[in-house]
Amino acid sequence: MVELKHLTGLRDLSRKDIEDILNIALHLEEVCSGKKVFNLLENKVLTTLFYEPSTRTRLSFETAMHRLGGKVISVADAKTTSSAWKGENIPDTIRTIDNYTDAIAIRHSESGAAEMAASYSRVPILNAGDGTNEHPTQGLLDLLTIKKERGTIDGLKIVLVGDLKHTRSTNSLTLGLSNFNVELTLVSPPGFETSQWILDILKKRNIPYTRTDDLRGSVKNADVVYVCRIQKERLADPHEYDKIKGTYVLNRSLLEGASRIITVMHHLPRVGELDEDVDDYPGAAYFRQPFNGVMVRAALLAILLNRVPESF
Ligand code: NCD
Repeated sequence: MVELKHLTGLRDLSRKDIEDILNIALHLEEVCSGKKVFNLLENKVLTTLFYEPSTRTRLSFETAMHRLGGKVISVADAKTTSSAWKGENIPDTIRTIDNYTDAIAIRHSESGAAEMAASYSRVPILNAGDGTNEHPTQGLLDLLTIKKERGTIDGLKIVLVGDLKHTRSTNSLTLGLSNFNVELTLVSPPGFETSQWILDILKKRNIPYTRTDDLRGSVKNADVVYVCRIQKERLADPHEYDKIKGTYVLNRSLLEGASRIITVMHHLPRVGELDEDVDDYPGAAYFRQPFNGVMVRAALLAILLNRVPESF
């Protein structure tokens, strides 16, 4: 069974680790929807410490904890409402909060912030997104979504579309997928390509990938299309955004050019790159992803707090 002290990224997880996490998540499905009561994390406290805005990630961490009978303390806007505003650094904040809690989910605008927190924390750290680096719980919920929607991850042709340079979700998803037998197509505007360190890992793990700017052609042969937002707030030059916004939009007509039903995913929020005319397309999975986020985060909390039942 997978053993983790912290979860800062998917880079070093094995296929077996990922499969264990997804299986534990599937065991917790009915608990996460409230159909079954299972107070697995009774007497445990989770802190959500978010230095950047969030809807899905923070609320699904908190939902997972509540569904498992645990408790939550939350800093939703740490930049302005915690002592960070007074100039306190991450190591000092972490060495304070670990007196109050059993686990910390942290989101921060700097790449490496979760690793730094983990190096100071006496309790497990869960990376809820660090800069343009990783968003491992999102990557895992995306893998769970693919597994649930398609029945398998192996053998699929997966297209990732958008700002692949600054999107931490697609970094973690790509790292997760690199443990499976998949074919990847990376579609991005020039200057927004997947980072070299991710491509190096794909090469090392013999994952076939193509880089292109041809969205229509890529969608035609896909099993799964994953759209991501241009990470406007992370661009050094705001004019860059105006140049590319609206250039890569997935819409119904592109999907209908394919002979089969494609699974359409998005980490959300969307701001124009995924047309609303896709919402009632049979393969649209992006409003099912948020529930899978509760399942995966529940599984991770159970693992990190050493409460996975033997019977799983
Ligand atoms: C993303 C994030 O913050 O990394 N959102 C999420 O967690 N689902 C992606 C984004 O903001 O575009």
